[in-house]
Amino acid sequence: MSQTDGGAGIKLAPSILTADFGLLAEEIRAAEAGGADYVHLDVMDGRFVPPITFGPLVVEAVRHATRLPLDVHLMIKEPEAQFEAFVEAGADIINFHAEASPHVDRLLRRVQAMGKRAGVCLNPGTPLAAIEEVLDVADEVMLMAINPGWGGQTLIPSMIDKLRRLRAMLDARGVSPDVEVDGGVKTGNIGACVAAGANVLVCGSSVYNAQASPEENLRELRAAAIQVSAR
Ligand code: DX5
Ligand code: ZN
Repeated sequence: MSQTDGGAGIKLAPSILTADFGLLAEEIRAAEAGGADYVHLDVMDGRFVPPITFGPLVVEAVRHATRLPLDVHLMIKEPEAQFEAFVEAGADIINFHAEASPHVDRLLRRVQAMGKRAGVCLNPGTPLAAIEEVLDVADEVMLMAINPGWGGQTLIPSMIDKLRRLRAMLDARGVSPDVEVDGGVKTGNIGACVAAGANVLVCGSSVYNAQASPEENLRELRAAAIQVSAR
């Protein structure tokens, strides 16, 4: 981000997808202790993506476990029919897929009318042009760096250039929604994501894994992100 903020503008959003759901509150507190900025919640419906994960009940349980903003990622068809339940469950940010809604502009505004941040998300194969007309409406644009459905995948390298092109589009329009990248973000590529223009980094298996604690992993991820942002 800026040359001077020391990475302060960078937000780390641990995804609980690979956390231990039997110990969810503890897992979230560990991320909090490691300096997480958001908790990222991956909602899958078995239709937009093959797996089914969880719905508003789990979001509500997480709401009770932390004061961190809840970044809800709806990988569901017809998000307009469901998003209110997630807002009521405690979501602070609602991200839905442009591919899943014929009324992206309207849905962004409906989320905002409920007092929440509204984000639009694109799969790797969906061109940036799909959201060009709402860049001045969205509070956040989220690029998938993997094909959604599972944690632990490898970031698709060409998504770094897509991030760069998104940042250029935003600069050209003079708007600055948050730019979130989701999928395969690790210490080895988080710097490239930041350098390409992302400021919200979703980290799933790079935070919740068997190698180290979420606290340690988050510290390493932030150090790697800040190193590049301070360059
Ligand atoms: C995948 C999800 C991601 C994912 C991130 O569909 O949207 O949030 O869980 O996990 P990693 O960081 O392991 O790719
Ligand atoms: Zn996600």
